[in-house]
Amino acid sequence: MTERMFSRAGLVLRQRTKLERAMNVLRIASAAIAAAIVCCAHAAEQPPSRTLATTCTGCHGTHGRSTGAMPSIASLPRKQLAEQMRAFRDGRRDATVMQQIANGYSDAQIDALAEHFARQQRGAAR
Ligand code: HEC
Repeated sequence: MTERMFSRAGLVLRQRTKLERAMNVLRIASAAIAAAIVCCAHAAEQPPSRTLATTCTGCHGTHGRSTGAMPSIASLPRKQLAEQMRAFRDGRRDATVMQQIANGYSDAQIDALAEHFARQQRGAAR
């Protein structure tokens, strides 16, 4: 009789720890999901400047170092690049293509691009 009671108690205890373990797994999983949501909602708001810059490097060369007819934009001072982008966007500077391209960027994105290219070194394209 007592033996049966003990084994029943053991079973209940074991089931409880199983439940607790499952709860812990759930807690960790929901924390991971929350972290992923924070991470990716942020990424959607503002892509990293390197991602933005890939649009430009097709014409202006890898890292903004041009080998062809396009002007190099690597290491242009941050303010100058941002000002040129805004001039294209606002139609203050004539352009063949840059007006349309600049039109697609917000002020914050232009600043991020300017920051990115200012950090790139000029010199031979690699
Ligand atoms: C389709 C090719 C193309 C793409 C893509 C492109 N550009 Fe340009 N860019 C040009 C051309 C061509 C010029 C010369 C002005 C013109 O005719 O539009 C220029 C000029 C510029 C200038 C002026 C450089 C100077 O010496 O005054 C800046 C700054 C610039 N681009 C930045 C960018 C940035 C930043 C991006 C990406 C968001 C970008 N460009 C994407 C073709 C391109």
